[in-house]
Amino acid sequence: MRGLRSGYAGGVVLGGVDLDLDEGGTVALLGRNGVGKTTLISTVMGLVRPYGGSVLLDGRELAGARVDVIARAGVGVVPQGRRVFAPLTVDEHLTIASRSPARGPWTRTRVLDLLPRLGERLGHRGDQLSGGEQQMLAIARALLGNPRLLLLDEPSDGLAPAIVSQVGEVIREVSAQGMSVVLVEQNLGLALSVAESVAVMRKGVIVHRSAAAELASRPGDLRRLLGVD
Ligand SMILES: Nc1ncnc2c1ncn2[C@@H]1O[C@H](COP(=O)(O)OP(=O)(O)OP(=O)(O)O)[C@@H](O)[C@H]1O
Ligand SMILES: [Mg+2]
Repeated sequence: MRGLRSGYAGGVVLGGVDLDLDEGGTVALLGRNGVGKTTLISTVMGLVRPYGGSVLLDGRELAGARVDVIARAGVGVVPQGRRVFAPLTVDEHLTIASRSPARGPWTRTRVLDLLPRLGERLGHRGDQLSGGEQQMLAIARALLGNPRLLLLDEPSDGLAPAIVSQVGEVIREVSAQGMSVVLVEQNLGLALSVAESVAVMRKGVIVHRSAAAELASRPGDLRRLLGVD
């Protein structure tokens, strides 16, 4: 992303975001409530129209493209709040997500191997799932699109610590299989344990970029960067 600017109804939220990610890399995007993390994800996905700037995936310009074009170009999302469909079963979610499969390793079988709990819940409706199961379903749905770049927006939100570490395991596994990952998180423990690098956002711009290990050893600096102190 280069100089990416966007917002709502003419108002500016992203004031020019520069962010790079190597193929297969995982970056944690940190920042307080309301700084523009979800707006960044939505802009990359094509759900919010950029005012300017660039989003390049393998040299291909995606800024301003339609959401379906961006999805087919290889960008997948696990949205904030999961957005699981209440009346549809797990099985139906997976069937819909598999309908126009991109070539890639993530088949239904493979996804159910990674997330065995979903296999035990195939007949359950979205609104009959626990928060953790809904999160796993949102991840499964995104993986079935075989994205090259996966954007996860606060996947740990509202989950018990044991489930948060399971979500962390899943993201690590997906990343180890070669997918590039942007992980938006407020849970610093999860973010720093999963990501190799960290970007900190404040008021719609990236104010810090470093290796995750570097910030993990300096919690005071991290709090200052986030603007918590
Ligand atoms: N659909 C929308 N219409 C108008 N303004 C919006 C919309 N969505 C978000 N905003 C505003 O844009 C700013 C950034 O919001 P955004 O949701 O991107 O923040 P965030 O960093 O994801 O916060 P959180 O950590 O709470 O999820 C906020 O001021 C918010 O009120
Ligand atoms: Mg958000």
